[in-house]
Amino acid sequence: MNITLANSDVSSQCEAILRSLPAWFGIEESLLEYVRDTALHPTWVAHEADAPAFGFVTLREHFPSSFEVHCLAVQADRRGGGCGLALMQTAEAWAKARGARFMQVKTIAAAHPSEAYAETRVFYERAGYLPLEVFPDLWHPRNPCLQLIKAL
Ligand SMILES: CC(C)(COP(=O)(O)OP(=O)(O)OC[C@H]1O[C@@H](n2cnc3c(N)ncnc32)[C@H](O)[C@@H]1OP(=O)(O)O)[C@@H](O)C(=O)NCCC(=O)NCCS
Repeated sequence: MNITLANSDVSSQCEAILRSLPAWFGIEESLLEYVRDTALHPTWVAHEADAPAFGFVTLREHFPSSFEVHCLAVQADRRGGGCGLALMQTAEAWAKARGARFMQVKTIAAAHPSEAYAETRVFYERAGYLPLEVFPDLWHPRNPCLQLIKAL
C-alpha cells in the first residue's frame, strides 16, 4: 500500500470511495462537498502502484497549531486492512512536521443509535483520539456531534 499526497485531481476516485459507504455518506449534498474539498485541502490517498485510490483523508487547517480530520474513508471492501490507521499516521506526521500541536475530528456521538458510527468511534479511539466535548445541536438535534482530539 502506498500513501501519497494528492497532487493531481483525485476527486472522482474519492467520490467512488464515499459512494461505497452509504451508511456514513448517504447525504448527497455533504458527499459532494467532501469530494470538492479533496481538491481544496491537503488530501492523501492510499493506492497500490498506479491503481485507483481505495482510501483517502482530507485535513483542514484551523490554525497553524491545530488541524482537523475533515474527511476519512476507506473503500467498503478494503476496510479493516490497516489503511485508515496508515492514512491517519501520515496526515498527523505531516501536520506535526509543520508545527501543529493538535489534531481534532468530529463524528456522530454515542447518543445516536448508529452501529456504523459506533465502529467509527472505536477506530478513532484506537488511533489515539480522546473525547473532548459533545455538541448536541451543531449539525442537527438528530445527529449529536462528538469532538475528539489528539495531541501530536
Ligand atoms: C473508519 C475507517 C476510515 C477506518 O479505516 P480502516 O482501514 O477500516 O481501519 P484500520 O484497518 O486501519 O483499523 C484500525 C483499527 O480501528 C478499529 N476498527 C477498524 N474497523 C473497525 C470496525 N469495523 N469495527 C470496530 N473497530 C474497527 C480496530 O481497532 C483496528 O485496529 P486493529 O486492526 O489493531 O484491531 C474505515 O473503516 C471507514 O472508511 N469507515 C467508514 C467511514 C468512516 O467512518 N469515516 C470516518 C469519519 S466519517
